[in-house]
Amino acid sequence: MRFPETVPSLHPSPRACLAGVAPYRPGKPIGEVQRELGLRRVVKLASNENPQGASPRALKVLRRDCREAYRYPEGASPLLRCALAAEHRLRPEWVAVGSGSDGLIRLLCEAFLEPAEEVIVSEYGFIRFSQNARLMGASVVSVPMRNWTHDLEAMAERVTSHTKLLFIASPNNPTGTYNTQQQLEGLLAKVSSRVAVVLDEAYCHYAVRYPRYHRSLPDLVLRFPNLVVLRTFSKAYGLAGLRVGYAVAQPHIVRHLDQVRLPFNVGVLSQRAALEALKDRAFVRKGVEGVEKGKRFLFEGLRALGSEVLESAANFLFVRVPCPARKIFEALLRKGIIVRPMAEYGLEYHLRISVGLPFENRALLKAMRDVLGKAKKTDHRH
Ligand SMILES: Cc1ncc(COP(=O)(O)O)c(C=O)c1O
Repeated sequence: MRFPETVPSLHPSPRACLAGVAPYRPGKPIGEVQRELGLRRVVKLASNENPQGASPRALKVLRRDCREAYRYPEGASPLLRCALAAEHRLRPEWVAVGSGSDGLIRLLCEAFLEPAEEVIVSEYGFIRFSQNARLMGASVVSVPMRNWTHDLEAMAERVTSHTKLLFIASPNNPTGTYNTQQQLEGLLAKVSSRVAVVLDEAYCHYAVRYPRYHRSLPDLVLRFPNLVVLRTFSKAYGLAGLRVGYAVAQPHIVRHLDQVRLPFNVGVLSQRAALEALKDRAFVRKGVEGVEKGKRFLFEGLRALGSEVLESAANFLFVRVPCPARKIFEALLRKGIIVRPMAEYGLEYHLRISVGLPFENRALLKAMRDVLGKAKKTDHRH
């Protein structure tokens, strides 16, 4: 078969700002690794999912209601919105529900960014902030970190009359570091209310046990009209595959998110499962405790193997390995373990490793021991 020749000038040209945007590369899926390497058992520690699985209460609702898949959902997710508002002692107009918190990052960019306006992010802040901003043609200002943590003072200083959004993730992905209440309030007091400050708390359930971790809801959104807090059902609630997240902010901001969202942006089953998962506090508590134990185990084990590991307030670890991370990633893959190399952040010697179940964490350490041992031997030979 002959394929038509590509004549670029005769093709529809994409928006100019797409030139600087690479498609997002998610953690390698289990199925892909099984197919490529012919492996049966694969452990995935690459996307910070909940290793316990989904909340059983949510699963029950999914089984009960699966026949409703033929119906359109209620577009504004009203029941979930009300439940979330009650959870945070606010009114439903203060909550927007979206397709994961990633969906809300996109909506914020669509609602607020004109081309060439500025967005402030942190050097190794969650990469989806800058990617979404660039899609709108915005200009991204990246502020160096301090000890692998968002430097909120320096970020506040970079605000200009062109700045529209400022993104913070706390705990941050991939570093696992967090900001304190004092740092956060300092930034909010300094930054003009014309700039929307987006605080992504995807991993807050794991971080609340750390004494200096900030408390944003509801107090800070009541006090600061430009603060937007993002949360997700993908982590502690175990529903990453259903794509549900939400934003909490004053109604004047939520109204604009509603203007740009797709009419049915969260599926009928996703809304119902999230509503149930929200009530399943025992599941969240158990998961957080499991992560805390697994994190200690991995932290100590990886350090004993000669890697530098950062203290993390989330459900993953940020690890500097003694040889190129790509090599370690590939060697682990051949042993059926998927982790995440950090090359997209320009970090060639770092991996991000999600905390798994005890057997998965043991398998990771065992495989790391083999792989790092082999890497050392090869180094000596050269
Ligand atoms: C800091 C942070 N924010 C947002 C997300 C997006 O999560 P989701 O779209 O599944 O809610 C992630 C995913 O890993 C994350 O690490």
